[in-house]
Amino acid sequence: MRGARGGCWALAALLLAASVLSAARLVPGGSPERGAQAASPRDLDKKRPAELKMDQALLLIHNELLGTNLTVYWKSEWCYQCLFQVLVSVSPRGGPGGPGMAAVSVSTQHGSILQLNDTLAEKEICRLQYKFGEFGNYSLLVKHVHNGVHEVACDLVVNENPVDSDLPVSVAFLIGLALIIALSLLRLLFSLDDFNNWISKAINSQETDHLINSELGSPSRADPLGGDIQPATWHPSTPPPRLRCVDTFRGLSLILMVFVNYGGGKYWYFKHASWNGLTVADLVFPWFVFIMGSSIFLSMTSILQRGCSKFRLLGKIAWRSFLLICIGIIIVNPNYCLGPLSWDKVRIPGVLQRLGVTYFVVAVLELLFAKPVPENCALERSCFSLGDVTSSWPQWLLILMLESIWLGLTFFLPVPGCPPGGIGDLGEHPNCTGGAAGYIDRLLLGDDHLHQRPSCTVLYHTEVAYDPEGILGTINSIVMAFLGVQAGKILLYYKDQTKAILIRFTAWGCILGLISVALTKGSENEGFIPVNKNLWSISYVTTLGSFAFFILLVLYPVVDVRGLWTGAPFFYPGMNSILVYVGHEVFENYFPFQWKLEDNQSHKEHLTQNIVATAVWVLIAYILYRKKIFWKI
Ligand SMILES: *[C@@H]1O[C@H](CO)[C@@H](O)[C@H](O)[C@H]1NC(C)=O
Ligand SMILES: *[C@@H]1O[C@H](CO)[C@@H](O)[C@H](O)[C@H]1NC(C)=O
Ligand SMILES: *[C@@H]1O[C@H](CO)[C@@H](O)[C@H](O)[C@H]1NC(C)=O
Ligand SMILES: *[C@@H]1O[C@H](CO)[C@@H](O)[C@H](O)[C@H]1NC(C)=O
Repeated sequence: MRGARGGCWALAALLLAASVLSAARLVPGGSPERGAQAASPRDLDKKRPAELKMDQALLLIHNELLGTNLTVYWKSEWCYQCLFQVLVSVSPRGGPGGPGMAAVSVSTQHGSILQLNDTLAEKEICRLQYKFGEFGNYSLLVKHVHNGVHEVACDLVVNENPVDSDLPVSVAFLIGLALIIALSLLRLLFSLDDFNNWISKAINSQETDHLINSELGSPSRADPLGGDIQPATWHPSTPPPRLRCVDTFRGLSLILMVFVNYGGGKYWYFKHASWNGLTVADLVFPWFVFIMGSSIFLSMTSILQRGCSKFRLLGKIAWRSFLLICIGIIIVNPNYCLGPLSWDKVRIPGVLQRLGVTYFVVAVLELLFAKPVPENCALERSCFSLGDVTSSWPQWLLILMLESIWLGLTFFLPVPGCPPGGIGDLGEHPNCTGGAAGYIDRLLLGDDHLHQRPSCTVLYHTEVAYDPEGILGTINSIVMAFLGVQAGKILLYYKDQTKAILIRFTAWGCILGLISVALTKGSENEGFIPVNKNLWSISYVTTLGSFAFFILLVLYPVVDVRGLWTGAPFFYPGMNSILVYVGHEVFENYFPFQWKLEDNQSHKEHLTQNIVATAVWVLIAYILYRKKIFWKI
């Protein structure tokens, strides 16, 4: 049981780390003997001028031009083809309009482009590009310089240095790293034999036999899908593969998902990209879909091997998809913050809905064309055979057809407008957010039944509703799940040939990576099909698919072949993913997942809170695992 204790240790340490991070803030400010302890982090916080919010800096603009009113325009470097927005107007010093100075707050998340125009003459005075730092205090001096010609200079001066807003992330990362090293040393100190004994015991134990094969990681004690199949029909020659790497990968994406859904410390890179592009938050959902695909194949194979009828399985699949969609609709329509829900505003699409539909399509596809996995046959399983791909040509054909529908609709559907709307595209198409995808959703589901604040509202000022989990994108999540099925096939077809498996993972990862580079031309916005989470563009799927194969390439040998890592702590939430997903959404606003922050605008406090909340979910998953409680639908 030492390994189990190891898991506990890891969690305890994780919580400890989070509390260290927050220590200063938890100390009540009043008591004098503690004041000294809290002093240094306080200093950092004190630098925030009261009027500034998170990710903002103060910019003072001094207009020292005689008789010229200035208009200052701003746009973000990351806003692709965006219009300038008026920031402020500054009248000259001594003039009737005011003191010749204006104070504004500017965003510090990305670089800023400032343009200063003469208000009356509509003449550009100067333009500058700068990355402001959080809570910094800057002055922009606009004045004449007399060096022969009449010239204007714009000088940016730093009055007060910004804080290092990424420091908490670095600290959290270092603490995490220290923990991993400490735990590994601990493991080495305890005799290695004991540990290996435990691993093999755990892997061979009765419980884990049943724990592996379930699409969403919720195993049952008897049978993942089929219900009451008799053990007599079990083929002892082909035991179901025990693949911890699948559960570990699922848990990893789930835990990242919980962390970013809880806010990810309010850092932009832990939030979804505005439109095109990729952030940490954009990684997790496709990975989850991918691993669901792998599990569909693994579990279906083992169930069919046990003699379950296809027809019964179909019923099960339909029921599960239905349940997923129902639970999903409940989850995306919370009551507590928006007041009682009105039927006119029910949001229909969502993450679980997307998962449900994807699950249904991929599982039915696999069920229709299910073939027995070839038995041990040296020739067929050689390193260069393509049995895993060729055996599923009907599925691939259908997937390619679906994909052409996606491409056709995305590029050729006559939509009154184009992406991403708002002030993007030089402001020409303000109401076409999402192009065809958005159009189809608005047409079929109606504006009110969609997500009202997609991630592009902030940067691109879009106004129409757009749902990132809409109908059209489902096609590409089906493609993603099917890549996962392919990974599952590789794992099963080449069961005892680690080398063959690793070669295939590498090949898939490279091919998908190359496709992504070709589609995006290696750029964020300029490619044929940019990487886009909101649209689930095909390049997004190939990019994330490529990453997923590379992750399996690492996890499979480390977790399953060599047993170097048990997959803890990700393994536990991976086993109970529906429960963790639903739980984290439902209890989002409850203690200890959320509490009142002392300074609502501090990244550090948000980060601490989000790490604690995530760690608590890992802990809950661990306890449930020990108690063998799994929520299966
Ligand atoms: C910013 O710096 C200027 C110039 O040093 C100073 O006058 C002003 O009070 C500062 N503002 C804040 C909010 O600290
Ligand atoms: C600048 O703007 C102020 C207020 O808007 C106005 O009163 C003033 O006449 C303007 N000055 C010039 C030189 O345009
Ligand atoms: C500022 O002036 C330039 C030069 O006249 C003009 O092209 C530009 O449109 C103006 N900028 C804005 C944001 O109006
Ligand atoms: C876009 O939608 C907004 C709000 O619905 C509306 O006020 C605006 O006129 C629309 N713009 C165009 C160009 O259709």
